[in-house]
Amino acid sequence: MKLQVFLKIALAGFIGLSVAHPGEQHEEIDERALIQKRAFQEHVTRSLEKCARQLEASGVYKRTEARRRDTIESLRRSKPAGARLTARDPETVLNTSHLVTNSSINASTADDVLFTNNGTCVLNPEGETGPFYVLGEYVRTDLRESEVGVNITLEAQFIDVDTCEPLTNMWWDVWNCNATGVYSGVVENGNGNAKDTANFNRTFLRGIQQADSDGVVRFDTLFPGHYSGRATHHHIVAHIGDDITVLANGTITGGSVAHIGQLFYDQDLITEVESTYPYSTNTITITENADDRVFLAETENTTSDPVINYVLLGDSVEDGLFGWVTIAIDTSASYDPKYSFVLTSSGGVEESGGTDMK
Ligand SMILES: *[C@@H]1O[C@H](CO)[C@@H](O)[C@H](O)[C@H]1NC(C)=O
Ligand SMILES: *[C@@H]1O[C@H](CO)[C@@H](O)[C@H](O)[C@H]1NC(C)=O
Ligand SMILES: *[C@@H]1O[C@H](CO)[C@@H](O)[C@H](O)[C@H]1NC(C)=O
Ligand SMILES: *[C@@H]1O[C@H](CO)[C@@H](O)[C@H](O)[C@H]1NC(C)=O
Ligand SMILES: *[C@@H]1O[C@H](CO)[C@@H](O)[C@H](O)[C@H]1NC(C)=O
Ligand SMILES: *[C@@H]1O[C@H](CO)[C@@H](O)[C@H](O)[C@H]1NC(C)=O
Ligand SMILES: *[C@@H]1O[C@H](CO)[C@@H](O)[C@H](O)[C@H]1NC(C)=O
Ligand SMILES: *[C@@H]1O[C@H](CO)[C@@H](O)[C@H](O)[C@H]1NC(C)=O
Ligand SMILES: *[C@@H]1O[C@H](CO)[C@@H](O)[C@H](O)[C@H]1NC(C)=O
Repeated sequence: MKLQVFLKIALAGFIGLSVAHPGEQHEEIDERALIQKRAFQEHVTRSLEKCARQLEASGVYKRTEARRRDTIESLRRSKPAGARLTARDPETVLNTSHLVTNSSINASTADDVLFTNNGTCVLNPEGETGPFYVLGEYVRTDLRESEVGVNITLEAQFIDVDTCEPLTNMWWDVWNCNATGVYSGVVENGNGNAKDTANFNRTFLRGIQQADSDGVVRFDTLFPGHYSGRATHHHIVAHIGDDITVLANGTITGGSVAHIGQLFYDQDLITEVESTYPYSTNTITITENADDRVFLAETENTTSDPVINYVLLGDSVEDGLFGWVTIAIDTSASYDPKYSFVLTSSGGVEESGGTDMK
């Protein structure tokens, strides 16, 4: 069976999955969906193994590696980029450190060692948008505005799981909460002060960018804080389409959504960041990765590893981080992400739509 056909069948099994708000722990996954997810992951993993060889041969890994090295060096960093481990289930991912410290890995290390597909975050058919997506955000690299916290330069390389080519007609829509757990653009219980209507017009830590010729997108953003019921995470919506264009007001139009997902951090890194100001002022109870519904769903019975690989840019986390992850996308998928707010020419407004389904 052709992979593409298989993927469609596999994805179709997930439509019944419920989407919960932060704090809710319940989920309904039927047996058929579990079997299909397992088969889906096996196929995608095999496909990605082929991709690894093809990407290496075409020089994509080499270019990517060199660019990452330049980034780290230009930010006056000392630590080298390096390898990752295979992840197979939540426990293995939880036990894996994504901090790269191997001093024998450096610019001369073979590309296939540095960029094996081991760290690839295979797309997850059950990826969910969550309640805090805002439609219509700006195309830009630096998302921090006047927010403060631990700086992170975050890179993702997007690969087409069918062709093994880097995805260049892909626009990564990213968002996360600020250091004290509040999302911009959302005025709602469970998101900071629900009476603070000025938040409608805020846009911090949200943005969109097109992948470059190696399928890579880089954002300057902040390490997310935390809020009730969820582990620390970044959100991904992957817009794809040759018809995507940037409007005069700096937002995009066109395309469709081929992937919805979330990225995580090692728990020990989170603990370290949370001990620094202003993260430390947040008194909401921390939900750890091991207890996070989405983390568990993205890591169960899979080779997918949605945890960001990173190096420290200085002596402590407060000096900032460089993080990277590879994400495989099934471009034949088309999702309808949920949203409750939209950024318009007259500011942020409450308006909902989307189903999170295909
Ligand atoms: C993971 O695999 C185990 C063992 O095969 C199975 O019992 C469990 O239901 C699976 N869970 C998911 C979410 O696939
Ligand atoms: C990648 O995964 C394979 C298979 O589990 C393992 O043998 C190899 O050591 C891993 N490579 C790296 C760099 O983690
Ligand atoms: C994870 O770590 C715990 C505690 O160190 C250990 O007991 C467990 O065997 C590890 N599991 C895996 C899959 O490595
Ligand atoms: C890279 O590391 C190897 C050891 O793994 C070492 O022999 C080599 O000199 C290093 N190269 C550079 C440029 O640092
Ligand atoms: C460090 O990386 C080298 C490849 O450059 C590898 O051979 C070695 O096993 C790694 N060491 C550790 C401790 O992971
Ligand atoms: C996070 O955003 C909210 C809303 O703008 C603000 O009240 C809070 O001070 C911000 N947190 C930090 C650490 O600036
Ligand atoms: C974090 O980034 C901001 C904005 O570029 C900068 O002003 C600040 O100095 C950076 N912090 C550190 C510790 O590098
Ligand atoms: C940008 O322009 C589009 C098309 O006119 C409009 O729908 C959207 O609301 C505008 N967004 C902003 C932030 O101005
Ligand atoms: C948001 O900004 C617009 C101007 O762009 C303004 O008309 C509107 O009143 C503001 N909304 C809020 C809630 O402050």
